[in-house]
Amino acid sequence: MKHFLDLSLISKQELRQIIENSKARKKNRSSKGKVLPDKDKPLEGKLLLMVFEKPSTRTRLSFDLAMRQLGGETIVMNSENLHLGIGGETIEDTARVFSSFSDIVMLRTFEHSTLVKFSELLTVPIINGLTNDSHPCQILSDVMTFEEIKGPIVGKKIAWIGDGNNVTNSLMEASALFDFKLTIACPKNFLPSKKVLNWSKKINNNITIVHDPKDAAENSDCIMTDKWISMGDKGDLKKKRKAFKDFKVNSKLLKLAKKDAIFMHDLPAKRGEEVSAEVIDGKQSVVWQQAENRLHCQKGIIEWCLKGK
Ligand code: CP
Ligand code: NVA
Repeated sequence: MKHFLDLSLISKQELRQIIENSKARKKNRSSKGKVLPDKDKPLEGKLLLMVFEKPSTRTRLSFDLAMRQLGGETIVMNSENLHLGIGGETIEDTARVFSSFSDIVMLRTFEHSTLVKFSELLTVPIINGLTNDSHPCQILSDVMTFEEIKGPIVGKKIAWIGDGNNVTNSLMEASALFDFKLTIACPKNFLPSKKVLNWSKKINNNITIVHDPKDAAENSDCIMTDKWISMGDKGDLKKKRKAFKDFKVNSKLLKLAKKDAIFMHDLPAKRGEEVSAEVIDGKQSVVWQQAENRLHCQKGIIEWCLKGK
Protein backbone atom coordinates (compact mmCIF):
# COMPACT_ATOMS: atom_id res chain seq x y z
CA MET A 1 0.00 0.00 0.00
CA LYS A 2 1.38 3.38 -1.01
CA HIS A 3 0.33 5.90 1.63
CA PHE A 4 1.44 9.53 1.27
CA LEU A 5 2.11 10.29 4.93
CA ASP A 6 5.38 12.20 4.95
CA LEU A 7 8.13 13.03 2.46
CA SER A 8 10.67 11.22 4.65
CA LEU A 9 8.82 7.93 4.08
CA ILE A 10 9.11 8.15 0.28
CA SER A 11 12.30 7.82 -1.77
CA LYS A 12 13.68 10.88 -3.50
CA GLN A 13 13.38 9.09 -6.84
CA GLU A 14 9.67 8.54 -6.30
CA LEU A 15 9.14 12.14 -5.15
CA ARG A 16 10.92 13.31 -8.28
CA GLN A 17 8.63 11.08 -10.39
CA ILE A 18 5.55 12.61 -8.73
CA ILE A 19 6.76 16.11 -9.61
CA GLU A 20 7.61 15.15 -13.21
CA ASN A 21 4.21 13.51 -13.70
CA SER A 22 2.49 16.57 -12.19
CA LYS A 23 4.40 18.87 -14.56
CA ALA A 24 3.54 16.73 -17.58
CA ARG A 25 -0.13 16.66 -16.69
CA LYS A 26 -0.11 20.42 -16.15
CA LYS A 27 1.48 20.97 -19.56
CA ASN A 28 -0.90 18.65 -21.37
CA ARG A 29 -4.07 20.33 -20.15
CA SER A 30 -3.49 23.75 -21.69
CA SER A 31 -6.88 25.40 -22.14
CA LYS A 32 -9.18 22.56 -21.12
CA GLY A 33 -12.30 23.34 -19.06
CA LYS A 34 -11.64 22.95 -15.36
CA VAL A 35 -13.71 19.82 -14.74
CA LEU A 36 -13.03 18.11 -18.07
CA PRO A 37 -10.93 15.00 -17.40
CA ASP A 38 -7.45 14.44 -18.82
CA LYS A 39 -7.55 12.40 -22.05
CA ASP A 40 -6.36 9.15 -20.47
CA LYS A 41 -8.78 9.35 -17.48
CA PRO A 42 -6.47 7.12 -15.42
CA LEU A 43 -8.76 7.03 -12.39
CA GLU A 44 -12.13 6.59 -14.07
CA GLY A 45 -14.57 4.92 -11.71
CA LYS A 46 -12.45 5.62 -8.62
CA LEU A 47 -13.56 7.58 -5.55
CA LEU A 48 -11.46 9.90 -3.38
CA LEU A 49 -12.92 10.43 0.09
CA MET A 50 -11.75 13.61 1.83
CA VAL A 51 -12.17 14.14 5.55
CA PHE A 52 -11.44 17.49 7.21
CA GLU A 53 -11.06 18.08 10.95
CA LYS A 54 -9.83 21.61 10.18
CA PRO A 55 -10.80 24.30 7.65
CA SER A 56 -9.29 24.32 4.17
CA THR A 57 -9.61 26.28 0.95
CA ARG A 58 -6.72 25.23 -1.32
CA THR A 59 -6.31 21.62 -0.22
CA ARG A 60 -10.01 20.91 -0.52
CA LEU A 61 -10.45 22.58 -3.91
CA SER A 62 -7.26 21.22 -5.42
CA PHE A 63 -7.87 17.60 -4.39
CA ASP A 64 -11.45 17.76 -5.59
CA LEU A 65 -10.50 19.11 -8.99
CA ALA A 66 -7.42 16.89 -9.23
CA MET A 67 -9.50 13.72 -8.79
CA ARG A 68 -12.08 14.86 -11.32
CA GLN A 69 -9.39 15.74 -13.85
CA LEU A 70 -7.97 12.24 -13.40
CA GLY A 71 -11.40 10.92 -14.33
CA GLY A 72 -12.54 10.00 -10.80
CA GLU A 73 -15.08 11.33 -8.30
CA THR A 74 -14.89 12.75 -4.79
CA ILE A 75 -16.88 12.92 -1.57
CA VAL A 76 -15.96 15.51 1.08
CA MET A 77 -16.85 15.09 4.76
CA ASN A 78 -16.26 17.31 7.74
CA SER A 79 -15.30 15.42 10.84
CA GLU A 80 -18.06 16.94 12.96
CA ASN A 81 -20.56 15.23 10.67
CA LEU A 82 -18.96 11.84 11.20
CA HIS A 83 -19.73 9.55 14.14
CA LEU A 84 -15.97 9.34 14.64
CA GLY A 85 -15.72 13.11 15.01
CA ILE A 86 -18.27 13.29 17.81
CA GLY A 87 -16.90 10.27 19.62
CA GLY A 88 -19.64 7.85 18.59
CA GLU A 89 -17.52 5.39 16.60
CA THR A 90 -14.00 4.00 16.71
CA ILE A 91 -11.26 4.65 14.14
CA GLU A 92 -11.21 0.87 13.52
CA ASP A 93 -14.87 0.73 12.49
CA THR A 94 -14.65 3.99 10.55
CA ALA A 95 -11.59 2.78 8.62
CA ARG A 96 -13.41 -0.39 7.68
CA VAL A 97 -16.26 1.59 6.18
CA PHE A 98 -13.90 4.03 4.42
CA SER A 99 -12.04 1.04 2.92
CA SER A 100 -15.16 -0.49 1.46
CA PHE A 101 -16.67 2.73 0.09
CA SER A 102 -13.64 4.49 -1.38
CA ASP A 103 -10.48 3.85 -3.39
CA ILE A 104 -8.33 6.45 -1.66
CA VAL A 105 -8.68 8.72 1.39
CA MET A 106 -7.29 12.19 2.14
CA LEU A 107 -7.29 13.30 5.77
CA ARG A 108 -6.65 16.71 7.34
CA THR A 109 -6.38 16.21 11.06
CA PHE A 110 -5.08 17.66 14.31
CA GLU A 111 -3.14 14.71 15.73
CA HIS A 112 -0.62 13.10 13.40
CA SER A 113 -1.26 9.84 15.25
CA THR A 114 -4.83 9.78 13.88
CA LEU A 115 -3.42 9.76 10.33
CA VAL A 116 -0.94 7.02 11.18
CA LYS A 117 -3.62 4.92 12.85
CA PHE A 118 -5.84 5.21 9.77
CA SER A 119 -2.92 4.21 7.55
CA GLU A 120 -2.49 1.04 9.60
CA LEU A 121 -6.16 0.13 9.40
CA LEU A 122 -7.24 1.11 5.90
CA THR A 123 -7.01 -1.27 2.96
CA VAL A 124 -6.82 1.72 0.59
CA PRO A 125 -4.11 4.43 0.42
CA ILE A 126 -4.34 7.55 2.59
CA ILE A 127 -2.86 11.02 1.91
CA ASN A 128 -1.77 13.48 4.59
CA GLY A 129 -3.74 16.67 3.86
CA LEU A 130 -2.02 18.42 6.84
CA THR A 131 -1.59 17.45 10.45
CA ASN A 132 -0.24 19.40 13.42
CA ASP A 133 3.14 17.85 12.55
CA SER A 134 3.49 18.09 8.78
CA HIS A 135 2.13 19.25 5.44
CA PRO A 136 3.94 17.20 2.78
CA CYS A 137 1.54 17.90 -0.15
CA GLN A 138 2.19 21.63 0.29
CA ILE A 139 5.95 21.32 0.25
CA LEU A 140 6.13 18.91 -2.67
CA SER A 141 4.03 21.35 -4.67
CA ASP A 142 6.27 24.22 -3.52
CA VAL A 143 9.35 22.39 -4.81
CA MET A 144 7.57 22.09 -8.16
CA THR A 145 6.74 25.81 -8.15
CA PHE A 146 10.26 26.84 -7.17
CA GLU A 147 11.71 24.78 -10.03
CA GLU A 148 9.24 26.13 -12.59
CA ILE A 149 10.50 29.61 -11.82
CA LYS A 150 14.13 29.18 -10.83
CA GLY A 151 15.23 25.82 -12.26
CA PRO A 152 16.61 22.84 -10.28
CA ILE A 153 16.34 23.37 -6.52
CA VAL A 154 19.46 21.34 -5.73
CA GLY A 155 22.06 23.51 -3.99
CA LYS A 156 19.75 26.55 -3.83
CA LYS A 157 19.42 28.62 -0.67
CA ILE A 158 15.96 28.74 0.90
CA ALA A 159 15.19 30.90 3.94
CA TRP A 160 12.28 30.05 6.22
CA ILE A 161 11.34 32.97 8.45
CA GLY A 162 8.73 32.44 11.15
CA ASP A 163 7.18 29.63 13.13
CA GLY A 164 8.86 26.22 13.30
CA ASN A 165 5.60 24.47 12.44
CA ASN A 166 4.09 21.63 10.38
CA VAL A 167 5.07 23.28 7.08
CA THR A 168 8.65 23.84 8.32
CA ASN A 169 8.91 20.17 9.27
CA SER A 170 7.99 19.04 5.77
CA LEU A 171 10.33 21.67 4.31
CA MET A 172 13.19 20.23 6.38
CA GLU A 173 12.47 16.77 4.98
CA ALA A 174 12.43 18.22 1.46
CA SER A 175 15.74 19.98 2.04
CA ALA A 176 17.37 16.63 2.83
CA LEU A 177 15.72 14.75 -0.03
CA PHE A 178 15.96 17.40 -2.76
CA ASP A 179 19.34 18.57 -1.47
CA PHE A 180 18.86 22.32 -1.02
CA LYS A 181 20.25 24.57 1.72
CA LEU A 182 17.66 25.63 4.28
CA THR A 183 18.16 28.32 6.91
CA ILE A 184 15.33 28.57 9.41
CA ALA A 185 14.98 31.78 11.41
CA CYS A 186 12.56 31.35 14.29
CA PRO A 187 12.27 32.52 17.91
CA LYS A 188 14.08 30.26 20.38
CA ASN A 189 10.83 28.89 21.80
CA PHE A 190 9.27 28.04 18.45
CA LEU A 191 11.71 25.60 16.91
CA PRO A 192 10.72 22.98 14.33
CA SER A 193 10.66 19.26 15.20
CA LYS A 194 13.90 17.94 16.67
CA LYS A 195 13.06 14.47 15.42
CA VAL A 196 12.78 15.67 11.81
CA LEU A 197 15.94 17.75 12.19
CA ASN A 198 17.86 14.71 13.41
CA TRP A 199 16.47 12.60 10.58
CA SER A 200 17.60 15.24 8.05
CA LYS A 201 21.06 15.42 9.59
CA LYS A 202 21.56 11.72 8.90
CA ILE A 203 21.14 12.39 5.17
CA ASN A 204 23.12 15.63 4.76
CA ASN A 205 24.01 18.83 6.48
CA ASN A 206 21.64 21.21 4.71
CA ILE A 207 19.77 22.79 7.63
CA THR A 208 20.85 25.70 9.80
CA ILE A 209 18.72 27.23 12.54
CA VAL A 210 19.22 30.90 13.45
CA HIS A 211 17.28 33.43 15.48
CA ASP A 212 17.89 36.59 13.49
CA PRO A 213 15.80 36.73 10.28
CA LYS A 214 18.53 38.74 8.56
CA ASP A 215 20.94 35.79 8.84
CA ALA A 216 18.48 33.58 6.97
CA ALA A 217 17.40 36.11 4.34
CA GLU A 218 20.89 37.16 3.30
CA ASN A 219 21.82 35.98 -0.19
CA SER A 220 18.90 33.53 -0.36
CA ASP A 221 17.14 32.42 -3.56
CA CYS A 222 13.77 32.26 -1.88
CA ILE A 223 12.15 33.48 1.33
CA MET A 224 9.28 31.41 2.67
CA THR A 225 6.98 31.97 5.58
CA ASP A 226 3.63 30.92 7.07
CA LYS A 227 1.09 32.21 9.58
CA TRP A 228 2.38 32.81 13.07
CA ILE A 229 -0.66 31.07 14.51
CA SER A 230 -1.54 27.71 12.98
CA MET A 231 -4.87 25.92 13.11
CA GLY A 232 -5.09 24.10 16.38
CA ASP A 233 -2.36 26.14 18.08
CA LYS A 234 -2.96 26.20 21.82
CA GLY A 235 -1.50 28.22 24.68
CA ASP A 236 -1.05 31.95 25.05
CA LEU A 237 -1.45 33.09 21.45
CA LYS A 238 -1.03 36.76 22.36
CA LYS A 239 2.35 35.91 23.80
CA LYS A 240 3.18 33.87 20.71
CA ARG A 241 2.40 36.80 18.40
CA LYS A 242 4.65 38.98 20.52
CA ALA A 243 7.55 36.56 20.18
CA PHE A 244 7.31 36.89 16.40
CA LYS A 245 7.24 40.65 16.10
CA ASP A 246 10.73 40.76 14.56
CA PHE A 247 10.04 37.86 12.19
CA LYS A 248 7.95 39.71 9.63
CA VAL A 249 8.97 39.40 5.98
CA ASN A 250 9.00 42.99 4.75
CA SER A 251 10.71 44.80 1.86
CA LYS A 252 13.75 45.57 3.96
CA LEU A 253 14.29 41.90 4.71
CA LEU A 254 13.57 40.83 1.13
CA LYS A 255 16.25 43.24 -0.08
CA LEU A 256 18.86 41.14 1.74
CA ALA A 257 18.03 38.16 -0.47
CA LYS A 258 19.39 37.78 -4.01
CA LYS A 259 18.07 40.36 -6.44
CA ASP A 260 15.96 37.80 -8.28
CA ALA A 261 14.81 35.95 -5.13
CA ILE A 262 11.19 34.87 -4.88
CA PHE A 263 8.78 35.06 -1.97
CA MET A 264 6.61 32.04 -1.12
CA HIS A 265 3.74 31.56 1.34
CA ASP A 266 1.52 28.49 1.52
CA LEU A 267 -1.53 30.65 2.40
CA PRO A 268 -3.80 31.68 4.03
CA ALA A 269 -1.73 34.76 4.90
CA LYS A 270 -2.11 37.49 7.46
CA ARG A 271 -0.85 40.72 5.91
CA GLY A 272 0.79 42.88 8.55
CA GLU A 273 1.81 39.88 10.67
CA GLU A 274 4.19 37.36 9.07
CA VAL A 275 4.37 39.31 5.80
CA SER A 276 3.82 42.90 4.71
CA ALA A 277 1.27 43.60 1.98
CA GLU A 278 4.08 45.14 -0.05
CA VAL A 279 5.91 41.82 -0.19
CA ILE A 280 3.05 39.37 -0.65
CA ASP A 281 1.40 41.56 -3.28
CA GLY A 282 4.73 42.60 -4.79
CA LYS A 283 6.65 41.54 -7.89
CA GLN A 284 8.77 38.87 -6.20
CA SER A 285 5.79 37.06 -4.72
CA VAL A 286 4.79 33.78 -6.43
CA VAL A 287 2.03 32.82 -4.00
CA TRP A 288 -0.73 32.49 -6.61
CA GLN A 289 1.32 30.19 -8.81
CA GLN A 290 2.06 28.23 -5.62
CA ALA A 291 -1.67 27.92 -4.88
CA GLU A 292 -2.50 26.84 -8.43
CA ASN A 293 0.19 24.20 -8.45
CA ARG A 294 -1.47 22.47 -5.53
CA LEU A 295 -3.94 21.13 -8.10
CA HIS A 296 -1.29 19.79 -10.47
CA CYS A 297 0.79 18.28 -7.71
CA GLN A 298 -2.20 16.58 -6.05
CA LYS A 299 -2.74 14.78 -9.35
CA GLY A 300 0.79 13.40 -9.20
CA ILE A 301 0.32 12.37 -5.58
CA ILE A 302 -3.04 10.63 -6.07
CA GLU A 303 -1.77 8.78 -9.13
CA TRP A 304 1.38 7.67 -7.32
CA CYS A 305 -0.70 6.24 -4.45
CA LEU A 306 -3.08 4.37 -6.68
CA LYS A 307 -0.56 3.09 -9.18
CA GLY A 308 1.23 1.24 -6.43
CA LYS A 309 -1.87 -0.64 -5.29
N1 CP B 1 -2.01 25.92 2.04
C1 CP B 1 -3.08 25.20 2.37
O1 CP B 1 -3.00 24.02 2.69
O2 CP B 1 -4.24 25.90 2.31
P1 CP B 1 -5.64 25.45 2.88
O3 CP B 1 -5.55 25.44 4.38
O4 CP B 1 -6.60 26.50 2.36
O5 CP B 1 -5.99 24.09 2.36
N1 NVA C 1 0.74 26.12 9.50
C1 NVA C 1 -0.57 26.35 8.95
C2 NVA C 1 -0.67 25.88 7.54
C3 NVA C 1 -1.95 26.21 6.85
C4 NVA C 1 -2.05 25.67 5.49
C5 NVA C 1 -1.59 25.66 9.81
O1 NVA C 1 -1.37 24.51 10.19
O2 NVA C 1 -2.61 26.27 10.11
